[in-house]
Amino acid sequence: MPKTQIAASVLSCDFGNLERELQAVGSADMLHLDLMDGHFVPNLSFGQPLVAKIRQLSPLPLDAHLMVTNPVEYVDPLADLGVNWLSFHMECDHHAHRLVQRIKALGMKAGIALNPAAPISSLECILPELDYVLLMSVNPGFSGQKFIPFVLEKVRQLKECIVETKLSTLIEVDGGVNSENSSALISAGADILVSASHIFQSPDYSQAIRELRGK
Ligand code: DX5
Ligand code: ZN
Repeated sequence: MPKTQIAASVLSCDFGNLERELQAVGSADMLHLDLMDGHFVPNLSFGQPLVAKIRQLSPLPLDAHLMVTNPVEYVDPLADLGVNWLSFHMECDHHAHRLVQRIKALGMKAGIALNPAAPISSLECILPELDYVLLMSVNPGFSGQKFIPFVLEKVRQLKECIVETKLSTLIEVDGGVNSENSSALISAGADILVSASHIFQSPDYSQAIRELRGK
């Protein structure tokens, strides 16, 4: 079984010491960048200048998660900045299929994010086109929230669907992931675990990352 990848979400890092924080989280497999616009979610995070800075400071793949009402505006600029994985929320674009094709044409992995209440069945037509699905396990907008337990069943359901249809789509789980629920998520079929607070609130980031991998 391929190893679980850990995406460290910089939302909870100390931005005043960005270089040191990124070095300390160097054993993660990628950096998760939460871009928010204050409209799709009731919060603002950071924008493209910080993405550029992070690209400069870290060699890790960048996994951008768009929580914005107009994702189409972000795709080309983020590709130019060196983002490697890009997901958007399906309800934010009327032409999800076209946007997925654009993301892939720019050389990035394309993902669609589903809010906790959005059913797996909404992905039925687009699933074969996706490199990954980002299953939100909290309502998006903030780090430090509690994992919503029913999302575990959504992971199982999506994995079953991927296996049945012989796809290689990866499942990324985002929100409230910690050392208590990570093994259950991995057993249910999660390939990538996102974590902000479990990692950045721990005294030892490498140890926190190992815990998430189940080691
Ligand atoms: C929430 C973001 C998450 C967040 C996760 O809207 O999409 O990526 O950073 O934070 P934790 O791991 O603290 O739940
Ligand atoms: Zn996220």
